[in-house]
Amino acid sequence: MNQNDLYEAIFKRKSIRNYDPAQLDQNRLEEISKNLAALKPMTKGIKTEFKIISPDQVTRKGMNKAPHYIAAFSEAKDTYKANIGFMLQQMDLYFSATGTGSCWLGFPQPTKEVTESSNLEFIILMSFGNPKETLHRTSTSQFKRKPLSEITNIQGAEELLEPARLAPSAINLQNWYFTGDKNLIHAYSAKASFLRNIVGGSYFPLNVGIAFCNLQLAAEHLGLKTRIVFEKDRDKNQPKDREYIASLEIEKATAP
Ligand SMILES: Cc1cc2nc3c(=O)[nH]c(=O)nc-3n(C[C@H](O)[C@H](O)[C@H](O)COP(=O)(O)O)c2cc1C
Repeated sequence: MNQNDLYEAIFKRKSIRNYDPAQLDQNRLEEISKNLAALKPMTKGIKTEFKIISPDQVTRKGMNKAPHYIAAFSEAKDTYKANIGFMLQQMDLYFSATGTGSCWLGFPQPTKEVTESSNLEFIILMSFGNPKETLHRTSTSQFKRKPLSEITNIQGAEELLEPARLAPSAINLQNWYFTGDKNLIHAYSAKASFLRNIVGGSYFPLNVGIAFCNLQLAAEHLGLKTRIVFEKDRDKNQPKDREYIASLEIEKATAP
């Protein structure tokens, strides 16, 4: 599994909500655990923890049962929610690229024992298992997403921003916005209104972290070197309804 396999999965992945109830075999679960331990962070220095848990440790709130779930925890600091989005998106793409179904789950919750088993804050669940529905989309027209013109004012960077556009988000809110140019892209979130904060708004930064992961994979796929930067004063002079998350510096890779 390399970065390019993750990149390819961006264009075909979909949320899987129907699973074969059988557990994955031990070897596969070990591979998955290894992958979880190797996820790249968006922000250095934030403690995170990922636990594979079983269906009896999840309050599903009406959602179909999956044989396994990942519970993600984080130290609550800096861009921690975006960081979890960025990290677990690598898992979502890894699952899709390796024939396993998965779905981000903001509505179902782990049991109290699970949340109390970590010193860190519980952030989100992701279900996974063998799919009992088609695993992949066959065309990007099957993604219900806003057009590029609604999520960026950058011209001439379609190859970088189209993968970000296709990212999954809670209730498909797609609350990301990208400004800058093709060498320095700034990612923003819409600010959640009072009502939106009750439903889905708490996932706004996480959603942008997911799209940011796709953006970086796209740049690296094009052979470009990237660096994630956080510009302290970036929020100044921005529309009040937007919140700064992070920027991606993109430079041409030097020839070997
Ligand atoms: C943070 C987050 C939370 C989500 N929570 C749920 C959920 O509780 N239940 C569900 O069925 N789907 C959930 N989803 C999946 C989204 O509904 C889905 O990604 C979106 O509608 C786009 O569809 P797609 O993933 O098939 O492209 C969640 C997605 C994200 C990113």
